[in-house]
Amino acid sequence: MKIVVGITGGIAAYKAPELVRLLKKAGHEVRCAATEHALEFVTRVTLETVSGAPLYSDLFASGRTEHISLKDWGEMLVVAPATANIIGKVAGGIADDALSTLLLAFSGKPVIMAPAMNCEMWAHPAVQRNVETLKGWGICMVGPEEGELACGVNGMGRMAEPEQIADAICTMAAGRLAGQRWLVTAGPTYERIDSVRFIGNYSSGKMGFALAEALAEQGAEVELVTGPTYLNVSTYQRISLHRVESAREMYSAATEVFPRCNGAILSAAVADYRPAECADHKLKKNGNEGMHLDLVQNPDILATLGSMKTDKQTLVGFALETDNEETNAQRKLEKKNLDFVVLNSLRDKGAGFGVDTNKVTIIARDGSKTESPLLSKKEVARLIIETITP
Ligand code: CTP
Repeated sequence: MKIVVGITGGIAAYKAPELVRLLKKAGHEVRCAATEHALEFVTRVTLETVSGAPLYSDLFASGRTEHISLKDWGEMLVVAPATANIIGKVAGGIADDALSTLLLAFSGKPVIMAPAMNCEMWAHPAVQRNVETLKGWGICMVGPEEGELACGVNGMGRMAEPEQIADAICTMAAGRLAGQRWLVTAGPTYERIDSVRFIGNYSSGKMGFALAEALAEQGAEVELVTGPTYLNVSTYQRISLHRVESAREMYSAATEVFPRCNGAILSAAVADYRPAECADHKLKKNGNEGMHLDLVQNPDILATLGSMKTDKQTLVGFALETDNEETNAQRKLEKKNLDFVVLNSLRDKGAGFGVDTNKVTIIARDGSKTESPLLSKKEVARLIIETITP
């Protein structure tokens, strides 16, 4: 893999060359990007020698747009050590030097940070808030560890050892799901009433997009079939996007790709019904009379995939329940021939439509359960993928 190692100005920067050496030894190509302060702790010559490539540290060097070419080149960005300052800058969207500019440009690809700082700084609410923000965006934190700090005290804030960081990078780079193809459905469906109106729902698609990204992060190829949403995926990721509008279009796309997939996660909020007829013009009011819409049932995509499924494929459905949650979810699992059902309870605050967080219970066919606390949808997605692909 092509890995950019970013180094910021903390004493742990002296361990960065060792991390670069371990990554090169594992067969990765490495280029380094450093802040001005990082170069107070580790020299340009050292970083250029161990990486075997020129160091990127000056945003204005010979007028180049290196932050863009380096973001195109790199497949993963690792910041070790990551100071409170760089974490805060990324959380605040600040790009005022070579590395922070690269970090903001590096979208849609895995980013790992190994924080290192004094324990009081690590415990500061601003730092904790910023770390949570970054985790919510899918940035993976390795460490920090508890131990002796450069300032002489013992506490939480030591950078994880280079071996541990290299391990996390190599696990991510190897991609546990490499060679697999997964189908994900996301978002709402729109069911047309006439040329300007539709029946829809509040689903944003965020959970489904987070699932597709979590699968791609593990090396899987993803077929993402989504209803109308403003969300997008980056071109880097192994995600093929199929945009559809109605339940019937989603049904056609999903049933077409499913036979080529190792598994499917159906998180779309599919409209159960559609108007029996769709007018090709805008319907006019009829005096003071009310209006009746005849609705007919849409095909059940999940149940159809359940009937097509081979014993080599894994099928996961979602259940949004308001009462008798677990019993209803388990019933759905059996009725639709699923391997797992992800239960969302509408009674949980912060879970459900539109929000960036979720709280789920993953129920397996054998009845075993995995419960998540309230997490960002990215983190919930990673937990779901871990649970369904042991
Ligand atoms: N689903 C689907 N096709 C449909 C309807 C739902 O694929 N036409 C999928 C959803 O993506 C989700 C699961 O089925 O994974 C939800 O199951 P469903 O039985 O539709 O849930 P509810 O709509 O909540 O059903 P009910 O009203 O019966 O509780």
